[in-house]
Amino acid sequence: MMSARAAAARAVAAVLAGRALDAAVDHARGRAAGAEGPLIQQLAYGAVRYWFRLEPLVAARLRRPLKRRDSDIHALLVIALYELLDMRTPDHAAVDAAVEATRALRKPWAGKLVNAVLRGVLRQREALAATEEPVHDHAWPQWLATMIAADWPADWPAIAASGTARAPMTLRVNTLRMARERYQERLAALGHEASAHPSVASALTLSRPLPVEALPGFAEGDVTVQDAAAQLAAPLLMPLSGLRALDACAAPGGKTGHLAELGPPAKLVALEQDADRAEDLRATCQRLAIAADIRVADASRPRDWWDGRAFDRILLDAPCSGTGVIRRHPDIRLLRRPSDLDALTVLQDRLLSALWSLLAPGGILLYATCSLLRRENAERIDRFLQRERDAEVIPIAADWGRTEGPGRQILPGEADMDGFFYACLRRH
Ligand SMILES: C[S@@+](CC[C@H](N)C(=O)[O-])C[C@H]1O[C@@H](n2cnc3c(N)ncnc32)[C@H](O)[C@@H]1O
Repeated sequence: MMSARAAAARAVAAVLAGRALDAAVDHARGRAAGAEGPLIQQLAYGAVRYWFRLEPLVAARLRRPLKRRDSDIHALLVIALYELLDMRTPDHAAVDAAVEATRALRKPWAGKLVNAVLRGVLRQREALAATEEPVHDHAWPQWLATMIAADWPADWPAIAASGTARAPMTLRVNTLRMARERYQERLAALGHEASAHPSVASALTLSRPLPVEALPGFAEGDVTVQDAAAQLAAPLLMPLSGLRALDACAAPGGKTGHLAELGPPAKLVALEQDADRAEDLRATCQRLAIAADIRVADASRPRDWWDGRAFDRILLDAPCSGTGVIRRHPDIRLLRRPSDLDALTVLQDRLLSALWSLLAPGGILLYATCSLLRRENAERIDRFLQRERDAEVIPIAADWGRTEGPGRQILPGEADMDGFFYACLRRH
């Protein structure tokens, strides 16, 4: 059985190779003793969250960079620094555990190196603490910090800080079945405190996170875990009842479920291009007992899947940089590359244009992203409006977010929400 440090190092090395952190941690937890699971998660998430602050301390103490095949050792060093500098694990315990983990990783040659690098940082700990700028400034890759700060200069310090803040666990009550207050009472009866979100009618924010199995009625579909900002999508498409609706980029089905709960629409088609993710969408629809027509298809190629009948409502929750949800997915900072933005904006334009032709006259398309970047948000819609003469913007008047060109933007952390952009378009 692998030690928690070694398992966490393997998970972080997998992220460095391009894997998503949640999947990498699940895999690592599966291979370690059950009791180690929470520690593996804490170490891996901590190392990834603070990678851009801690890794330079490692790099500065290596005579030459570690080889790609030794990225587990690289990760182990950052994990140990996270333990030493942020978790305040006693020095000898953290150093010994890291050296021990080199053996579990079958790289005993790295024991001396790990010991030397960590001791080197410890010798300079006080000097480091004195020169250190606020933690959050260091926890971003420079290119991404520059890009976001260019769009939001005045808000950048708050955005930067939100990236390392803990996100709350927010629930969406299935209001088709019960009032939000009733579910709040059910939680209270079990000793769980939750507060009603001031701007989002279905949202309850838990004071302390809980495993989903501890949520009453979760398996039966009474409640779904979903950030409050994401719960704003379906209401923007109301009324839905009796209409034909399309959720074009649907997995894992968070918003599909909400569309059904607020309708139900006469027909709800849920598309997802990725077959594995479509399985999660299926599971969500099953749990919520939703009759959605789920198809694994490319939304930008309607001739592959469309039956020719126009939709009254279309939700395009577009693939995007995820810059608004970094507090929940710290690995985005490691996984994203500057070149991704070009590919994403091309895809966003293609999806918008292809889906527009499926909308009935008078119908509404909601464009949504969990991005903060103007390139993926207002700029995409402005360009779209130049191309499509039969589109008009429905202004979103709300007590959340701020007007941002043709849409509305929430910055991460505002009212404890993820960063999101919404633009509502009606077809003449
Ligand atoms: C932002 S996520 C959707 C989240 C989802 N709406 C929810 O609330 O749970 C975007 C999804 O679009 C999918 N996707 C990307 N390109 C697509 C395409 N061309 N056609 C259909 N789905 C696509 C991705 O695999 C991903 O699952």
